[in-house]
Amino acid sequence: MTKKVAILISGGGSNMEALVHSMTGDHPARPVLVLSNDPAAGGLAKAAGLGVPTAVVDHRAYAKDRPAFEAALHAVLLDARPDIICLAGFMRILGADFIGQWEGRILNIHPSLLPKYRGLHTHARALQAGDAHHGCTVHDVTAALDDGPVLGQAVMPVLPGDTPDTLAARLLPLEHALYPAVLRRFAAGDRRPVMLGG
Ligand code: GRF
Repeated sequence: MTKKVAILISGGGSNMEALVHSMTGDHPARPVLVLSNDPAAGGLAKAAGLGVPTAVVDHRAYAKDRPAFEAALHAVLLDARPDIICLAGFMRILGADFIGQWEGRILNIHPSLLPKYRGLHTHARALQAGDAHHGCTVHDVTAALDDGPVLGQAVMPVLPGDTPDTLAARLLPLEHALYPAVLRRFAAGDRRPVMLGG
C-alpha cells in the first residue's frame, strides 16, 4: 500500500522539494503534507506550487511551552495520518514524548557524517577538525539530538581552500540525492543504509 509522507520544514525547503519530486511513478510513497513551524518559510510556497497541502504551526505562538507546540504539531499530523515523517531542515528540537508517538516513523537529514558533529555549525566544525571528508546523514530519529540508527550517508572530500559556505554549497546536492534514495528504500520497508560517494 502506498505510504503517506509528511515533511517538516523551517526554511527554503530544497530537501523537501527533492523528496516531493522523487515521489512519483512506482515510488512506494506520496507526499500528503508539508508542515512548517515558521509562516515565512520559503518552502511553503514551493510545496503549494507542487500541489502538496501545507500547514503552519508557528512555534512563537507557544512561547516557551514546547509541550503545547508539540501537541499542536501532533494534532495537525494526526489529521494527515502520515506513515512516515521526514524532517527536512526542521530547526526545532522535538521532545521524547512527541517522538515516542511517532517512533520508528521519523527520518531526519543532518549535514555531517554522524556520529560526528551533532547540532549546529557542522561545516565549520569539520574544517576546524581538519577532516579529509565531510558529508550528510539520514537517520531514524530517537529522543537524543541528531542520533538514532543511520539509514544513509553521502561522503565528499574536503578540498584545499574550502570554507563553511563552500562545503555547505557542495553538500546540498548530495543531500538532495541521499534523502530521496533513503526515503524510497525506507518506504519499501528496507532499512539497510544507503551509502553514496566516497
Ligand atoms: C540542510 O543543509 C539540512 O541538512 C540542514 O538545513 C538545511 C536545509 O535546507 N539541516 P533546505 O531547507 O532543505 O533547503
